[in-house]
Amino acid sequence: MTLLKVDGLDCRYGLLQAVRGVSLEVDPGETVALIGANGAGKTTLLRAVAGAHRPHGGSIVFDGVDITRLPAHRRVALGIALVPEGRRLFPSLTVEENLSRSFRSCRPAGICLRPTSRAGSSRRSRSGAR
Ligand SMILES: Nc1ncnc2c1ncn2[C@@H]1O[C@H](COP(=O)(O)OP(=O)(O)OP(=O)(O)O)[C@@H](O)[C@H]1O
Ligand SMILES: [Mg+2]
Repeated sequence: MTLLKVDGLDCRYGLLQAVRGVSLEVDPGETVALIGANGAGKTTLLRAVAGAHRPHGGSIVFDGVDITRLPAHRRVALGIALVPEGRRLFPSLTVEENLSRSFRSCRPAGICLRPTSRAGSSRRSRSGAR
């Protein structure tokens, strides 16, 4: 059964369309990497799934529940965690520890969204690999 189903997602910043008709599915236990050029809309898509950006169109279903309009804090309770990119990580923790901290208040069968950038990810990998 699909854990996360994004269907025809559109996200805008004013007149700028950042995400256009994106559909994807993630199964339980599956790891999915979203790859695209700078500015392609990866972070915006993950923010929309986490409830940090209100989509203009499309739908997001998590574990059979339509969460498209659900507030972010209620998505956390369902098991959706967004680990922010940039400097808002715990530098003393490993990558795995940073991710697992996000799940503290989530149920076990959750999903972790982690936006990153090429420059940022290599820096974090070095500091996080113990
Ligand atoms: N807060 C914002 N206000 C206006 N436009 C934005 C905002 N955030 C992102 N955008 C624009 O939306 C588009 C998608 O940006 P987004 O950050 O989602 O891309 P990205 O794929 O994550 O890029 P990167 O690889 O650089 O992290 C870009 O054109 C960007 O300039
Ligand atoms: Mg990004």
